Amino acid sequence: MTIYNQILTEKEFVQQDRLTYPFEERGLQFGDGIYEVIRVYNGSYYLIDEHVERLYRSADAIKLTVPYPKEDLYHHLEKLLKVNDIQGDAKVYLQITRGSAPRDHAFPAIPQPNMYAYVKDLPRPVEKLKTGVHAITQPDVRWDWCYIKSLNLLPNVLAKQTAKEQGCFEAILHKEGEVTECSSSNVYLVKDGKVHTHPPKKNILHGCVRLGIERFCEEESIPFIEKAFHLDDIQNADEIFLSSSTAEVMPIIQIGEQTIGNGEPGNITRTLQKCYEKDAK
Ligand code: PDD
Repeated sequence: MTIYNQILTEKEFVQQDRLTYPFEERGLQFGDGIYEVIRVYNGSYYLIDEHVERLYRSADAIKLTVPYPKEDLYHHLEKLLKVNDIQGDAKVYLQITRGSAPRDHAFPAIPQPNMYAYVKDLPRPVEKLKTGVHAITQPDVRWDWCYIKSLNLLPNVLAKQTAKEQGCFEAILHKEGEVTECSSSNVYLVKDGKVHTHPPKKNILHGCVRLGIERFCEEESIPFIEKAFHLDDIQNADEIFLSSSTAEVMPIIQIGEQTIGNGEPGNITRTLQKCYEKDAK
């Protein structure tokens, strides 16, 4: 995997090894910041408008000013791919923090946000997309405002690590049995030809790929039901899948001891994978 050299900051492009952070950086001390992970296919952004809109929404929600106006951000993000000569599949990680100031929970009087965005190769997870993956379930112990893509990811990190230690790809999160989303993706249950997923309330991240899936369902006349399903529904599910900018439309074929459907990726998941591939081209 290559990390490319040129990193976009709040002021200019800098060489990767020149980027340093002050010790009283609020992103480090308080997780006081937001981020985005944007997919790149064949050197072009996928769902860029959705990501940029969500970035500004997250910034508004935590009273943070994005250092660039929207048009300039688009321009600089395009330049990021150009200066690093990106032609293949990659991801861009972008984060903005409230900057550095003497440590105090309250905001600094005049915050000076720190931002950086870098690009890294990211091949498509083709093998897993074919075979499907295993998942576990975990209680969702996060706060009520998960629609903000904030840097506070400790509960997500711990849930994902537990999944990994059990040889699984993801942790499906639930609040008292009601499934919200996964540690770093949205999750869907298919029953009798209908796709069920948690409504886009404040307690889940409104995934950009989730918006794509809603659109694909409409195009394919597949009912898309925004109502949370329950852990108990899993045993009778026909199919379960997850979505994110890095995992795409990923079939889940086993959850804990429970095999999903016949243990292979199902027809609706396959259809939505095809829609995704077509859309991302
Ligand atoms: N995560 N839910 C959570 C909690 C996420 O962290 C993500 C994305 C998603 C899917 O969002 P999108 O479709 O916009 O990628 C849902 C990214 C990939 C990450 O943190 O690495």
